[in-house]
Amino acid sequence: MKDDRPPTLWTRRDVQTRSAWALLGASLVAMVGAFVRLLFPRVRAEPPTKVVLGSPEAFAVGEVSERYKRTHRFVLVREAAGFYALRSVCTHLGCVPAWSAGQEKFKCPCHGSGFHRDGVNFEGPAPRPLERLAIALDAEKNLVVDTAVVLRRERGEWSRADAFLPYPSAGHP
Ligand code: FES
Repeated sequence: MKDDRPPTLWTRRDVQTRSAWALLGASLVAMVGAFVRLLFPRVRAEPPTKVVLGSPEAFAVGEVSERYKRTHRFVLVREAAGFYALRSVCTHLGCVPAWSAGQEKFKCPCHGSGFHRDGVNFEGPAPRPLERLAIALDAEKNLVVDTAVVLRRERGEWSRADAFLPYPSAGHP
């Protein structure tokens, strides 16, 4: 029987072969792309750990400022001699102590631990003082607290220079 169909350039086998090669090529390109992405992982930017609080003059002597507690989980304490920052994390099970100006202490709402204004524990189940955060003045003479530098009293770290910022400090009247 005579085939009346017009001749084509490609046979069915040609089309299948080319499709298979195209598929293989696309797979290879995708694999190479994935491999290259592995070599250059996307870097996730961590939030900055240094919190700029502004001028020391904005804080009154004797003040316990809780304005950074919600956003950065620390309180700033201004003494006549200078500043320190306390982490707002109870050392018992991690609740957030609140400053009670009337009682002159931090009180944890969870199990009743109490801390003096310098962070030292004196009542309740908390086994150790609150932690301090490193504090300094930057080049513009703003207070800066570094939430990544945690200082523990029981390790002797409160005697470090960055655990307490004398103010007025030398060179910063
Ligand atoms: S978490 Fe603060 S006393 Fe338990």
